[in-house]
Amino acid sequence: MTEAELYTVYKGVPMSARMHSPQALKHFEEFSFRSDDILIVTYPKSGTTWTQEIVPLIMSGGDPASVETVPNWRRVPWLEIGRSYTFNLEERPSPRMLATHYHYNMMPSSFFKAKPKVIYVMRNPKDVFTSSFHYYGMASFLENPGPQSEFLNKFLDGKVMFGSWFDHVKSWLNAEDKERIMYISYEEMIMDLKDSVARIAQFLDKSLDAEVTEKIAERCLFKNMKQNKMSNYSTAPPELMDQTKSEFLRKGIAGDWKNQLTVAEAEYFDAVYEDKMKDVKCKFVWD
Ligand code: A3P
Repeated sequence: MTEAELYTVYKGVPMSARMHSPQALKHFEEFSFRSDDILIVTYPKSGTTWTQEIVPLIMSGGDPASVETVPNWRRVPWLEIGRSYTFNLEERPSPRMLATHYHYNMMPSSFFKAKPKVIYVMRNPKDVFTSSFHYYGMASFLENPGPQSEFLNKFLDGKVMFGSWFDHVKSWLNAEDKERIMYISYEEMIMDLKDSVARIAQFLDKSLDAEVTEKIAERCLFKNMKQNKMSNYSTAPPELMDQTKSEFLRKGIAGDWKNQLTVAEAEYFDAVYEDKMKDVKCKFVWD
């Protein structure tokens, strides 16, 4: 399939024509948020699936029933993806757990009125690139990444699904009502998962004792979560995602870009990063 057939542009951002159908986009546009919704927001490949495991475990007080029986895409549905609009989200009891890859300025009007809680997960963009490179090679609804240097230019120019990483991160960093947004990085979760679980629970006003926090963190370790059929996409049809090419839960580490980018590519990435992020005041763990 050609690039033009694979992508559709919505609010100025390239989306997958197959995954983000006109019905799904319309449903999200008209979706009614509630103030007690919990929304996980990420640029793709930043730790969405991981957070879709952590948040339900926190909200259930550590009860693994939902993560063991309900696939992640139904447990914490993406609002812009294909079948989510058939899940009767309007009927789900509060607090609903939802996800999106939208930039801040793509959000529908009810989001700005209801002001749900947002957990915004960010990841070192060089690792996002690395993860994306492998993902684009195994997902049939995305263009084949082609040579790495070409894909790098596309990624840095935002000519990939969900557009520019830089625009995405900046849009959410500049969001209003920041007391409703928790910013956390993939790297912090890697460094201390127990502390990250405790902080997310606190943000969600869920009190967990130390033993439950520990159990959730243990369950969500990469090696353990990889075994969960409801989260590792092993139930996804191989014609959609060919995990013989690259597993969805691939490596689960911070800093894999060092194995992927050449020295020249990494230097080029840094130069583009510096330019695009020059107005951003906050320091990231990967800086
Ligand atoms: P890698 O390809 O670098 O391994 P998303 O869910 O946003 O698409 O992100 C996918 C990335 O998160 C993949 O990165 C995947 O392996 C990683 N990931 C998923 N679950 C994880 C976990 N429990 N611990 C660490 N990384 C995890």
